[in-house]
Amino acid sequence: MRTALVTGASRGIGRGIAFALAERGYGLTVTSRTQADLDALVPDLQRAGAGPVVAVAADMAAREALPPLVEAHGRAFGSMDALVLNAGVGTAGGIGTSDLRRLDKTIAVNFTAALVLVQHALPLLRQGAAEAPARGARVVGLSSITGAYAEPGLAVYGASKAALLSLVETLNLEESANGVTATALAPAYVDTEMSAWASDRIPPESMIPVADVVEVVRMLLDLSAKTVIGRVVLSRAGTSGREA
Ligand SMILES: NC(=O)c1ccc[n+]([C@@H]2O[C@H](COP(=O)([O-])OP(=O)(O)OC[C@H]3O[C@@H](n4cnc5c(N)ncnc54)[C@H](OP(=O)(O)O)[C@@H]3O)[C@@H](O)[C@H]2O)c1
Repeated sequence: MRTALVTGASRGIGRGIAFALAERGYGLTVTSRTQADLDALVPDLQRAGAGPVVAVAADMAAREALPPLVEAHGRAFGSMDALVLNAGVGTAGGIGTSDLRRLDKTIAVNFTAALVLVQHALPLLRQGAAEAPARGARVVGLSSITGAYAEPGLAVYGASKAALLSLVETLNLEESANGVTATALAPAYVDTEMSAWASDRIPPESMIPVADVVEVVRMLLDLSAKTVIGRVVLSRAGTSGREA
């Protein structure tokens, strides 16, 4: 049985990814901040086809809460085939106007948590890759097109997502020879709660559907360990291809 840890599984893109993996019979560890949301999610994932599902609430901004998530996965499954770093917070504001009270939290959730989770999960990912050397193990991080191409008005958010892109690239340099590869997804606006604030400018029907992001993740997890795709930029049709 393949297994995955998915952060931000309660809503939006993370929820879509969790169900796609459930349909493929993955054993799952799912996390977000509210245990009741996760407890409600577990039976739905199992009905969709998941193996065992471990649900552990944690705030990604609380660094000490992160190692126990990986430990819970390790106790349940002994190895990890996929780590989906999806939880994130959106923070709007230009350099001159950003509310700096949001700075630490944005970096903590969008970047530091990813680093801490990868660091603690590496032994389990290496174990997953050793058990299935042809496929290896894969980390998928939800970055953003604003991390790949600077976007005015999203200064801190874009910087946190650029840091995640860099982390993924370094991980490939350090670990891909051991069978652990990583991809950062860098989408423009995706139609979820997070992008609702922009819906007066950008109609939700012109945003990327969650299902398309999920499809890319499914494809990535089916690649062999020989192929590294460091980043996938998903642009919105009708744009320059570099804007959110
Ligand atoms: N939507 C977009 O336009 C878009 C575009 C590019 C990239 N992305 C990225 O894609 C990822 C998913 O976005 P989405 O649109 O699906 O967002 P969403 O609908 O707002 O869902 C965010 C998820 O992250 C979790 N989360 C947020 N803050 C957390 C925290 N402090 N601790 C633990 N979990 C936390 C939420 O869980 P709870 O609130 O239930 O705890 C929820 O499950 C994010 O990293 C986002 O930056 C989104």
